[in-house]
Amino acid sequence: MQLRNKDPYFSNGKILSSVSTKPSDVALDAFEIFSDVNALDSHIFSGIQGVERDVIGWFGRILKNSEISGYITTGGTEANITALWAAKKIYPKRNEIIVPKSAHYSIQKAADLMGLKIRWAGIDNRFRADPNDIKKKINGNTLAVVATAGTSALGVIDPVEEINEFCEDTFFHVDAAFGGFMIPFLKGYPTIDFTLKNLDSITIDPHKMGISLIPAGSVLFRDNSYLKRLELCPPYLSFRTYTLSGSRSGGSIASVWAAIKYYGIGGYRKIAEDCIKNTKFLCNELGEIKGVSLITEPELNIVGIKVSGPDRAYRALKRRGWKISLDSDTNSLRIVVMPHVTERVIREFVSDLGDIVSRGLQKNSRILRKSFS
Ligand SMILES: Cc1ncc(COP(=O)(O)O)c(C=O)c1O
Repeated sequence: MQLRNKDPYFSNGKILSSVSTKPSDVALDAFEIFSDVNALDSHIFSGIQGVERDVIGWFGRILKNSEISGYITTGGTEANITALWAAKKIYPKRNEIIVPKSAHYSIQKAADLMGLKIRWAGIDNRFRADPNDIKKKINGNTLAVVATAGTSALGVIDPVEEINEFCEDTFFHVDAAFGGFMIPFLKGYPTIDFTLKNLDSITIDPHKMGISLIPAGSVLFRDNSYLKRLELCPPYLSFRTYTLSGSRSGGSIASVWAAIKYYGIGGYRKIAEDCIKNTKFLCNELGEIKGVSLITEPELNIVGIKVSGPDRAYRALKRRGWKISLDSDTNSLRIVVMPHVTERVIREFVSDLGDIVSRGLQKNSRILRKSFS
């Protein structure tokens, strides 16, 4: 416990820069029960395959696709790499991927591993991928187009429906690692499911807004032909495998199963709505502080805050115990309003930020007065 206590707990509320949260008790219990199960060894642990099929089937219902296939990965990084690996199997001769600048850096890892060239697509003034730029960049060498539904920095949803329209001759992957447990459950949000006719694969991470525990991501494909292309049969084993990782935690799969059974669609909708409500509350409170503004109106529960002297504000907040991050692209404080970020926590944070910013403003005006006197 002494060792664990060196790091903070989600329950103390001051963790504002994590895309994970305290996992639900049912997920923890399930993890423990299945903690000795290796999902790779399907010849030994065949039961866990049924559990995983159940989970993927559930995603199929959420994403409106009864043919869905996929598996529980270690996280969004593995899921994104696997999606592009499958793309490479379909188009082995192509080697360019079109990626908006706001995409998660795991796409760069995938490109590096597979020797792919990234053609960076622009983003608009709301930090959304520019569909016209993507369209212009598509050519005969385009292996895949990547869009994000809930960017890591600002929670922005790329115009997935528009991009889908011109991806008929290329692989189309949507990284919804963060947004995937929110967007399908919220009213009035864009479609990010398999009714998009050119969508090949999607990443959705249970260990983020799915309230499951690390490690648990997922890669989901339109049908089972994609994973078939990745299949290998290790000579010393009597089964076939298609996953990027070898040994896989049965505990992870079971914890996702338990969480989706426990929360269901209604439970996840409530969690998503509460996070959006708290995000709006945070934005309103920030509006009351002089010298503070938003980088952009948040679509999900990630907020970019513009302050004068962001580095100083960041350091001062850290000294007061806040675990936040500074986004270097926008030079803004990045806050993720996860379920543990309650109204009480937000009030405390805004009060600290207000104090820090007003001290900064006073200091600046003293310096100005001095230099004019
Ligand atoms: C949009 C997006 N994709 C992928 C990832 C990578 O997920 P992981 O850290 O689980 O590998 C993240 C992580 O924050 C993310 O925000």
